[in-house]
Amino acid sequence: GQLIIPRKATDPPVVFHWLPFVGSAISYGNDPLKFFFECREKYGDVFTFILLGKRVTVALGPKGNNFILGGKSITFNAEDAYTPLTTPVFGRDVVYDVPNDKFMEQKRFVKVGLSTDNLRAYVGMVEEEVEQYMNKEATFRTFQTNDINEWGQFDVVKVMQEITILTASRTLQGKEVRANLDKEYAQLYNDLDGGFTPINWMMPNLPLESYRRRDRAQKKMSDFYVDIIRKRRAGNPEAEHDMIAALLEQTYRNGEYLKDHEIAHIMIALLMAGQHTSSATGSWSLLHIAHNPDIADALYKEQVQNFGTPDGKLRSMTYEELRALPVLDSVIRETLRIHPPIHSIMRHVRDDVVVPGTLSNPGKDKTFIIPKGHFVMASPVVSQMDPEIWKNSEEWDPLRWSDPNGVAAQAFKTYLDENGEKVDYGFGAVSKGTESPYQPFGAGKHRCIGEQFAYMQLGTLISTVIRNVELRIDAIPEHNYHTMITMPKEPRTISYRRRKFD
Ligand code: HEM
Repeated sequence: GQLIIPRKATDPPVVFHWLPFVGSAISYGNDPLKFFFECREKYGDVFTFILLGKRVTVALGPKGNNFILGGKSITFNAEDAYTPLTTPVFGRDVVYDVPNDKFMEQKRFVKVGLSTDNLRAYVGMVEEEVEQYMNKEATFRTFQTNDINEWGQFDVVKVMQEITILTASRTLQGKEVRANLDKEYAQLYNDLDGGFTPINWMMPNLPLESYRRRDRAQKKMSDFYVDIIRKRRAGNPEAEHDMIAALLEQTYRNGEYLKDHEIAHIMIALLMAGQHTSSATGSWSLLHIAHNPDIADALYKEQVQNFGTPDGKLRSMTYEELRALPVLDSVIRETLRIHPPIHSIMRHVRDDVVVPGTLSNPGKDKTFIIPKGHFVMASPVVSQMDPEIWKNSEEWDPLRWSDPNGVAAQAFKTYLDENGEKVDYGFGAVSKGTESPYQPFGAGKHRCIGEQFAYMQLGTLISTVIRNVELRIDAIPEHNYHTMITMPKEPRTISYRRRKFD
């Protein structure tokens, strides 16, 4: 065994491991949550572990989240950490392939495309796509049985992946993408996705066929979008409510419009950012609903009470109505607490950084310094599952969000961001926006801007499914941490039966 001694007295403690280069890659990779809880027990909230030759310093708990996610974007740098993974997939000149201030401008452009006005227009489209999907004429025939007395089965991840891409392309991505979904686009997407794995991130330059396929697909996908963009520019670009329409109109601070390939690459980035995060959250939500008949019942009743009509049918809902459904909202919120799709958030350390004493070792006077060249890692899921913070932390209990005495009751205090816009950081009991035990969408400068879109998409999807079918499953699957996004392991087959309307 190799006992790694911190190189300097100020270095954070290093997690014990047997293999020099591999370090703790196996235990971290198999179950990061278990690994973090065990390390916290031994070393406290701040420690360093070896991950395939990289030195990664973790800071846990709400204070650790705040330290990393609220840190300066120059010192804790996202581009350095992510670009080997993202640039080959998204393409050049966007997101982490540009200096952070340019990406922040691009993020602002994307926000325009995710405006409330657009989200209002999307609810009906998502509902229609899900309805169609569940009917016989659907492109994908996963729902084999329409007999109201018969139970059918479906693989929840497969179904959620298909519904997510159908609804995202119908809304954000635009009609041209939707029209090409069952053609070449799907194959390109799969090839790109095959290049968006932890292996690609750790080892960006392997001479593997999957890497070549990824590169070919990136080029073709980019050309596909550029073609749409050129046709739009030549025609009537304002006619659509989608992201391409919004991006065509934006200008950088220097007055320049986005170039065709920049719009194309932002579209690919949004596809990758939204696809697995939403389909994973949709899958875990349906699994828990299927496992909890009481909550399923409450969800259905909420639909009937709000949207029931005299003829016994359920009418469509508006975006505002969708956002005002407490049971549905807390189902998604609670699912994201236990199953946040992203378990680790990374930055690269560009300068030595002093760890605040309150975080590293409360009550003692030893100061840790994270050396330049390390990576830092935040894992909000650790505080989201912390039994010291949450009552019955392991239990999926949407009702905790409406318990007036619960920890979660303090959630959703609103903060203003740099641009004076309202941002829901969740859990606003503390003064700093980034210090919170509930951060499934991250925090600070790199915080997610897809949250409202995801709630719209998932809320409409879950409502539509619940209106049509009853769901059942015996057990909640375990987590698969080997993919970029935390997915349920097999078996994950849900039984369903169509509801009777009389
Ligand atoms: C950033 C989670 C859906 C676009 C993030 C981050 C998290 C996250 C944790 C922070 C990453 C970091 O700090 O390194 C989620 C979850 C989603 C979701 C849980 C769904 C349930 C979406 C969707 C879109 C999107 C649908 C686009 C339509 C983005 C963008 C960023 C981001 C542009 C900014 C990255 C940066 O500034 O570095 N998301 N996301 N996300 N997400 Fe999401």
